[in-house]
Amino acid sequence: MAENLDKPHPTKPIVTPWHVQGNIDYDRLIKEFGTEKIDDKLLQRIKKITGGGELHYMLRRKIFFSHKYLNEALTAYETGEKIYLYTGRAPSGPVHLGHLVPWIFTKWLQDQFKAPLLFQIPDEEKVFFKKGLTFDESKKWAYDNILDIIALGFDPKKTKIFLDTEYAKTMYKTACKVAGKVTFSTAKSVFGFKNSDNLGAIFYTCMQSVPAFLPTEFEGKPTQCIIPHAIDQDPHFRVTRDVAPQLGYPKPCSVHCRFLPGLQGMHAEGKMSASIESTAVYTCDDEKTVKNKINKYAFSGGKATIEEHRRDGGNPDIDVSYQWLVFFEEDDAKLKKIYDDYKSGALLTGELKQILIDKLNTFLVKHREKREKVKDQVEKFMVRD
Ligand code: TRP
Repeated sequence: MAENLDKPHPTKPIVTPWHVQGNIDYDRLIKEFGTEKIDDKLLQRIKKITGGGELHYMLRRKIFFSHKYLNEALTAYETGEKIYLYTGRAPSGPVHLGHLVPWIFTKWLQDQFKAPLLFQIPDEEKVFFKKGLTFDESKKWAYDNILDIIALGFDPKKTKIFLDTEYAKTMYKTACKVAGKVTFSTAKSVFGFKNSDNLGAIFYTCMQSVPAFLPTEFEGKPTQCIIPHAIDQDPHFRVTRDVAPQLGYPKPCSVHCRFLPGLQGMHAEGKMSASIESTAVYTCDDEKTVKNKINKYAFSGGKATIEEHRRDGGNPDIDVSYQWLVFFEEDDAKLKKIYDDYKSGALLTGELKQILIDKLNTFLVKHREKREKVKDQVEKFMVRD
């Protein structure tokens, strides 16, 4: 069934692969993007298939909230077929906490399904979309970002990482097959291209489709692929799903996550942005920097004075420190206590910020240690032509 590729993009708030802005209504996005909610029935199914243990907290908390064709992929897995995972990262700067969200979940999926993972590093993407970025710079960031990826603990025997410019021989033919099926009119309506956009930007989506089809190429038979990604990337995969049957490939499955809000809140600047320092915490920010950024910038749901806060309580639902704990504090009971205490006024804004600072610094100190340790592991993961 063809999806409606000609639906116009919403004007406000904005969610496209290159721009996310405003207060996002995720239920509305599901309708606009034509995806499906990950409902409780589906969660139960995932739970059963993954052995009945606790679901990943990102599923429990609906951080991964939407999908397309997940039931098909799960059925393939249940019937003993090999399934693949695929995700990616376009390098143009350092990795921040928002980038880690889908990768942490992908690592869980790899552990659960014992599935091979294709990790695309499209080192041409930002060269086409970001003024002034050179191939040398994007390659430098690629190999920097790969350390953050490997540090999360992916299985070297089951994970292939590749730069598009270094794996082009394997990828190009499939990219061209996709390109042959996508008209300029479709590209314009899906991505909003204008006449002034460069040809590389227009072609790029074909490259992002390729790893969804490589499982079938590698296995020599139709092979399912699950792609965990933030919802803004779905336009690419809408195109991928649309061309798949025409090229004899199964439609890939997407599972979509929400955005980690920027430090100043979704309303101020949308998702965390790698290029606006005051919105993001980078994995390389030292302990003092993390503390200062959160104390200075994290949007607070607290009251103006301590007296008022103690009396009326804070609002965790708009408080960025609390929202970040939803993404990074795995313990449900701890999280609930923080929510209740902040709401009742027992927990002050400064104390809530300190809980977040401690949580992040504990994680980041360990992450940086692992990042150092994996420096000599990179070649175990890389594939090149
Ligand atoms: N376009 C993504 C970015 O801007 C990179 C990417 C390539 C990707 N393939 C992917 C992201 C698959 C998620 C899933 O970073």
